[in-house]
Amino acid sequence: MKIAIDGPAGAGKSTVSRAIAKAFSCTFINTGATYRAAALGLKRGLALREIQIDITPAERILLNGEDVTEKLYTAELDQLSSQIATRADVRGRLVELQRQMAQNRDVVMEGRDIATVVLPDADVRIFLTASPEARARRRFRDRQGRETYEEILRKIRERDERDSVGFNRLQLTPETVVIPTDDRTLDEVIDEVLQRVSAALKDRKKLGKL
Ligand code: DC
Repeated sequence: MKIAIDGPAGAGKSTVSRAIAKAFSCTFINTGATYRAAALGLKRGLALREIQIDITPAERILLNGEDVTEKLYTAELDQLSSQIATRADVRGRLVELQRQMAQNRDVVMEGRDIATVVLPDADVRIFLTASPEARARRRFRDRQGRETYEEILRKIRERDERDSVGFNRLQLTPETVVIPTDDRTLDEVIDEVLQRVSAALKDRKKLGKL
């Protein structure tokens, strides 16, 4: 079973994806983390072909064997990862890697192009949306005052623009279920996604596709 969860920065994808993975006993794969690890590798002067990224079952991100999980969620890597994600060579390499990670196992995979590019035959496709203001408020709480709300909002708008250009990112497919998350707690969103996934799986079982 493959579940794709796409959406812009700060829409709650990771929290929701992790909960769904747990509920359906799937492996959670955060593709944003692979772009962040690649950005860190390139920043350190590695060539793209020298970069090896692994995700452990405990969700640790390894860059050439080094656990870099705690280094990936900084304001600098928010921007750098978004920039390098516009390179065709970087995407070619990472999409291949992400497909390998999803092979022969049940996964919940989150990102920007999962339903459109990485797993075009995903069984369930969810797209989480929220206004830039709601997403900036969440980020502001998560990052605990390291940046001001206004600064976070400005950067979210900047990333939205860059993250939706080209490579079939942040696009809907006919099967995608769009779930707005403004004005709702993430627990409420998780409940809705759980129901949607259960309903989609029932339909697919009826059709004999699972
Ligand atoms: O989800 P995130 O913020 O951790 O992702 C970091 C950057 O990587 C984001 O700005 C856009 C890019 N990205 C992408 O282009 N495609 C994906 N599937 C996942 C992330």
